Amino acid sequence: MRAIAVFPKERAVRLVDHPDPRIESPTQVKIRMLEVGVCGTDHEIVTFKYGTPPPGDKYLVLGHESLGQVIDVGDKVTRVHPGDHVVIMVRRPCPHPYCIPCRAGRQDFCSTGDYQERGIKQRHGFMCEYVVDDEKYLHVAPPDLREVTVLTEPLTIAEKSMIQVWEVQERLPWECRMDMKDEEGRPRGYCHKAVVLGAGPVGLLGAMLLRKFGFDTYVYSREAAGGARSKIVEEIGGQYVSAASTKSEELARQAGNIDLVYEATGASKLSFDFLPYLGVNGVFIFTGVPGRREPLAVPTGEIMRDLVLKNQIVFGSVNAGPQAYSEAIKDLGEFSRRWPEALAGLITQRFPMEDFETPLLDPPAGIKRVISIWDEE
Ligand code: BGC
Ligand code: ZN
Repeated sequence: MRAIAVFPKERAVRLVDHPDPRIESPTQVKIRMLEVGVCGTDHEIVTFKYGTPPPGDKYLVLGHESLGQVIDVGDKVTRVHPGDHVVIMVRRPCPHPYCIPCRAGRQDFCSTGDYQERGIKQRHGFMCEYVVDDEKYLHVAPPDLREVTVLTEPLTIAEKSMIQVWEVQERLPWECRMDMKDEEGRPRGYCHKAVVLGAGPVGLLGAMLLRKFGFDTYVYSREAAGGARSKIVEEIGGQYVSAASTKSEELARQAGNIDLVYEATGASKLSFDFLPYLGVNGVFIFTGVPGRREPLAVPTGEIMRDLVLKNQIVFGSVNAGPQAYSEAIKDLGEFSRRWPEALAGLITQRFPMEDFETPLLDPPAGIKRVISIWDEE
């Protein structure tokens, strides 16, 4: 079958003929890939900064943001059926018996670092015609969401973050409807303010989730106002603020107490520069993996003082567990009911497999670029 692969030693990216995978155990499922999203991690991999082929292989099949259709199931498969649309999870557990998270099915919290990731670290990914995987890594999506289901994986980053936000913020009375029966049925975050740093797919999907929870949401990004990204933010009832015309301290003044910051830029300077504007009892979530590693001057005194005197919390979050995948699929349904154009507008271009060079190797353009593989049956 055809697959898009990176050869790190040769420093090449090519369309290859890769062995067609077969069902080898009764809980496995064979999937025909429909679409695969391209993200910043793929750009790092094709520029040879990141990514590792399976042990002994010369190349790594790319792709971790998936949508496929089940075509065959092993004898013991119960949860999925031929014809189902599925999203395949990215991470696979490490082998160590003492890794508590992996043994509990939470390899997104793997404590040893020996996890594997499909399309990223030591396991082939999804930019190919067929994939075989265990049913426990599959999440079924409704077929009417076909056009947007490939956004599930990037949305899981926000879903996992928010699952943790509600948990960590239980350290104090914080949830807006906590001790009052909210008769108007308002969402959990309606009394809070959130700032999303970055208006890429992870940032915009994060903003949609924050809006669903009722947060008064600002999206702060470098593009000038008036473009496609700011229109999406407006459509979901958020406010777009351009870093080109507004300094972060002005945004902070305008917003008032910032209860939550969702970082989705991967730029460490912009993110740490924003840390001083986190408000009282606030939570700051990092999701980006910076490419640059140069040191940077930060006002540590100010930050430490605020962390203490304002009871703040800062955490990082990577990858996602099963609950985040199922919430993401449900929320794509919710977003498409509430903001159909904004949601569909996140996917700006689709490419056939043979045109992989444009989305993978050319400078990023548009919002989310997707490689289309098969049409569903
Ligand atoms: C993926 C995550 C992955 C991370 C680091 C991201 O692009 O969405 O699933 O864990 O890269 O490899
Ligand atoms: Zn990704």
